[in-house]
Amino acid sequence: MKWYILSSCLILSLLIIFVMNSTEVFFDRSKIPADDEQKGLKDQVVIRFSHVVAENTPKGLAAQKFAELVQKKTHGKVRVEVYPNGILYSDTDELKALQDGKIQMIAPSYSKLTDIVPSLEVLDLPFIFRDDRHVKAIFTGQVGRQLLGMVDQQQIKGMAFWSNGFKQMTSSQTPLIHPSDFKGQSFRVMPGKVITEQFNLLHAKPVVTSFNEVYQSLENHKVDGQENSISNIYSKRIYKLQKYMTISNHGYLGYIVIINQKFWKSLPPEIQDEIQNAMEETTVWILHESTKMNTIQLKEIKDSSPIQIHSLSNDEKKEWMKVFHPLYRDFNDEKSNDLIKKIQNTK
Ligand code: SIN
Repeated sequence: MKWYILSSCLILSLLIIFVMNSTEVFFDRSKIPADDEQKGLKDQVVIRFSHVVAENTPKGLAAQKFAELVQKKTHGKVRVEVYPNGILYSDTDELKALQDGKIQMIAPSYSKLTDIVPSLEVLDLPFIFRDDRHVKAIFTGQVGRQLLGMVDQQQIKGMAFWSNGFKQMTSSQTPLIHPSDFKGQSFRVMPGKVITEQFNLLHAKPVVTSFNEVYQSLENHKVDGQENSISNIYSKRIYKLQKYMTISNHGYLGYIVIINQKFWKSLPPEIQDEIQNAMEETTVWILHESTKMNTIQLKEIKDSSPIQIHSLSNDEKKEWMKVFHPLYRDFNDEKSNDLIKKIQNTK
């Protein structure tokens, strides 16, 4: 009986080996579709995407969405790793890290790139954008493409403009309704000549600090106020430290998504196309999503905090515009004036 079982097992094993070998003859293994998920990890391209805001912000969510789309479109050949909240680099050192190839993608506010591309300064002009539709037309239209082209230098390549939202003013000292209310107060600003000059014209003191330091600067009363989008005021809990907020929509916080030039050139054309497609899809998504998010978060601020909110009336807006007018005059070169006209004439 024992011998019978052993010889049956042997015969069965031989049979299995024979069947497996014969299928090799009929099937060409190279034609079997590869499962990308199982591909050697060493073949996978990794894009490290670093940014300084929270995950529940327009940029944070867009970076995640972009990562998912890239994964899907390249069938896992490219993986985007997103590092939020400045955990890898703050906004003062992320550009250098990108240029040195330590990370491959960042999306700073365009104001932070004006040292390299001065033409971007026109986007910081107060009241240059009329509404979200206008922002979309500029970011995705001819002006956006023209500006992106200028970014292609010094180891960086411009990929897209992403939106966050209109900037609002806040203060711990007084309501900010008339330009004279700003006098003598200090405001945290991001770097950028136009932004700094905007506060000089209000006889206020602009103080440049990185985004990671905003909360502390307000908490320690190093500055009295700041300007930012609702989404950043909400996610950084800035509204908890400020008594007054003016819905002024005087400026726009937008981002320029950039990638390391050498890294980009090293990618095969078909992979570049897929990444570019994912970027375009994400850009359309964020333009819509950021508006929604700012509206919802403004309501949450109103509902959950004692901050006093004032919406600038048309007459008050005219007072502010009059004060800011010299900023437009300061652009006396042909290239900038041409850009300003194009933005203003875009429907
Ligand atoms: C950001 O949204 O990336 C930060 C903007 C700021 O520095 O205020």
